[in-house]
Amino acid sequence: MLRSINWLLCSLLSATLVRSVELSGHAQSLFDQSMSFQDQIYDPDVSYLRYFYYPLAAGPHETRSTVWYSLGLLQRNQGDDVKEAIKILENVIGDQEKNASVLWYGDYTVYPEQPTVGSPSYDPVIYNSWDPNWRGFIGTALIIIYEEFRSLLPPDVQNMVLESIYNSAVGDTYRVGGVDDDNLYPAYSNAWLMRTVASSWTGLKMNDSNMTTSGDRWAQEFLDLFDFNNTLSEFNGPTYAGVSLYALTIAAKYLNSTGSVIGQNAERVIQSIWDYESLLWNPNMRNFAGPWDRSYGYDMNNYVAIMSEWIWALIGKDHVWRYKSPIATMTHADDFQLAPVIAVLSDFHKTLVSKTVISRLKSFVGEHIYSGHTYAPPADYEPRNITTWLSPRLTIGTDSFNQSVIGGYSKDSTSFSPSVVQWIRPGGSIGYFNLYSTQTALKADVAPYALNLTYPLGNATSSFTFILATNPLGAKRDISGLGDVDGLKIEVVGGSVNPVPEVSFCGLVGGTCNIIHEFEHWNLTFTMPANSSDVPSIHFKFALE
Ligand SMILES: *[C@@H]1O[C@H](CO)[C@@H](O)[C@H](O)[C@H]1NC(C)=O
Ligand SMILES: *[C@@H]1O[C@H](CO)[C@@H](O)[C@H](O)[C@H]1NC(C)=O
Ligand SMILES: *[C@@H]1O[C@H](CO)[C@@H](O)[C@H](O)[C@H]1NC(C)=O
Ligand SMILES: *[C@@H]1O[C@H](CO)[C@@H](O)[C@H](O)[C@H]1NC(C)=O
Ligand SMILES: *[C@@H]1O[C@H](CO)[C@@H](O)[C@H](O)[C@H]1NC(C)=O
Ligand SMILES: *[C@@H]1O[C@H](CO)[C@@H](O)[C@H](O)[C@H]1NC(C)=O
Ligand SMILES: *[C@@H]1O[C@H](CO)[C@@H](O)[C@H](O)[C@H]1NC(C)=O
Ligand SMILES: *[C@@H]1O[C@H](CO)[C@@H](O)[C@H](O)[C@H]1NC(C)=O
Ligand SMILES: *[C@@H]1O[C@H](CO)[C@@H](O)[C@H](O)[C@H]1NC(C)=O
Ligand SMILES: *[C@@H]1O[C@H](CO)[C@@H](O)[C@H](O)[C@H]1NC(C)=O
Ligand SMILES: *[C@@H]1O[C@H](CO)[C@@H](O)[C@H](O)[C@H]1NC(C)=O
Repeated sequence: MLRSINWLLCSLLSATLVRSVELSGHAQSLFDQSMSFQDQIYDPDVSYLRYFYYPLAAGPHETRSTVWYSLGLLQRNQGDDVKEAIKILENVIGDQEKNASVLWYGDYTVYPEQPTVGSPSYDPVIYNSWDPNWRGFIGTALIIIYEEFRSLLPPDVQNMVLESIYNSAVGDTYRVGGVDDDNLYPAYSNAWLMRTVASSWTGLKMNDSNMTTSGDRWAQEFLDLFDFNNTLSEFNGPTYAGVSLYALTIAAKYLNSTGSVIGQNAERVIQSIWDYESLLWNPNMRNFAGPWDRSYGYDMNNYVAIMSEWIWALIGKDHVWRYKSPIATMTHADDFQLAPVIAVLSDFHKTLVSKTVISRLKSFVGEHIYSGHTYAPPADYEPRNITTWLSPRLTIGTDSFNQSVIGGYSKDSTSFSPSVVQWIRPGGSIGYFNLYSTQTALKADVAPYALNLTYPLGNATSSFTFILATNPLGAKRDISGLGDVDGLKIEVVGGSVNPVPEVSFCGLVGGTCNIIHEFEHWNLTFTMPANSSDVPSIHFKFALE
């Protein structure tokens, strides 16, 4: 009510005053809940948000989230909001790297108190002391600020923002996959798209045909992979698919009619992403079924993923999480700091999303199998085959792959989940049983209630390690074998492994192995009989209990 009166007053008062982006109900609630959380950690004395970024740090402030917050302040535009946003922009841009001969040229600080990157005590370490993706994240946010809110900013600040975007885009041209420890290849979808969009936008805005040309070339390299099977190379990551959609939305909104390659293609790419993501989404479980490239956990109800923010903006928070715990108690809660930006783009974004997709996100369409392909060179020697079976309370999703490294594109077995089983347990929580990858090749066969896994390059020393959810409160606390798993009967029905697993616990404060992305779990490891000459394989049957 208050808001609508406010809005009415504003619109009556001001043909000249800038109107915020109009937000529909779901987008507004996403916006408000994120902003009210961030208001609490904003430090007006220094005009930065406090560091709320895993792992929590004592004292410092944080740069990237502060820029997202400044965009939220401009959108909200109440009280001192605009004044604070301007201070933020001046601070962050003031600390942007100005030395054009360093690799991190045009990049922003990770946090403002950090020592100068490259100074005697502070070596430049990519993804650590400096983060090459901060140019993409912050540069694209500044593009939205310029497009939507520049008339709230004094002319000198407008120019400063433009110049900052430009320098960031120049610095981004220094990135070459495989050189200087950088991994920015076209298959690194989210980061590649942010750079592409920023280059195309900046080239057009600043009349820099080199940037326009680079943007178009990078867009085409992305599309060559995407069009292979209409999938992102960084496949089905609950966090990073959301970032790819973010970058593409900027392209669709601000570059559609410019003739740039990414602008012309963004709309159909967004639609294709939702086409498959909506088939992988299980609305009963509030999870994307597997497999996942680069996930930050094993149950989306327990961490904040960017895709959850898009779904919230499209159809409402009730459809996003099964549990009602406050967002700040979830892991990766810092990713909720992007929400104001998602909210500002989301009503436009929604115009690109079909009714079919919306209805698939809202209610389960019925048992089905998704099969598709994705290709992420140089990690993938050949395209991966994806098969996912979804039923109302049980999903099994897998990759077959042949790769140059263990752990997929990002060489990280904790986030590359090539075989994922999830189910709804009797109490309503989500169980999971996921392969932890230890091999460079996997052949996976899925059928309803069945999963066969084979290591074509394995031998007698290979083992299959599964990350198993701890049982919910009220069910058995101790797991000594497959028979103790809550809500799902898991049977080894074939294969060449020893069918009795080694069991270990990877706990928060005990056990013999580490938690992964803050998820404690059981480690069930199936080994091969000594000296076996068989190809390692394991065959499962599942039944809900
Ligand atoms: C810029 O960086 C280069 C390479 O590290 C260094 O040699 C040069 O002194 C730096 N310039 C300034 C102005 O700091
Ligand atoms: C780019 O070119 C257009 C048309 O020639 C001109 O209006 C605009 O001021 C130029 N922008 C910049 C940043 O030079
Ligand atoms: C564009 O690239 C060419 C060739 O590398 C270079 O000579 C020229 O200065 C660049 N133009 C701009 C505006 O950076
Ligand atoms: C983008 O441009 C095409 C061609 O002009 C048009 O059909 C389409 O509706 C535009 N899309 C958006 C999202 O504006
Ligand atoms: C892409 O995947 C679809 C199933 O989603 C399949 O029908 C089609 O043949 C695939 N195309 C290619 C080129 O593999
Ligand atoms: C994917 O499927 C195709 C067609 O069945 C097959 O030729 C290829 O070897 C499979 N790829 C992997 C990585 O298993
Ligand atoms: C994986 O790809 C490599 C390179 O193309 C090939 O030599 C090898 O035979 C493949 N391995 C499997 C298990 O398909
Ligand atoms: C798995 O292997 C068994 C033999 O142990 C076979 O009967 C079954 O059809 C296979 N299942 C799938 C999904 O390939
Ligand atoms: C089995 O595979 C491991 C890992 O690839 C390798 O180090 C080992 O030499 C292999 N053992 C045999 C007997 O081939
Ligand atoms: C799982 O347990 C096995 C022993 O059974 C151990 O070798 C392996 O390192 C563990 N893996 C993880 C990811 O904890
Ligand atoms: C496995 O092979 C090793 C070396 O060849 C041998 O010492 C050992 O006894 C064998 N183990 C079994 C269980 O056959």
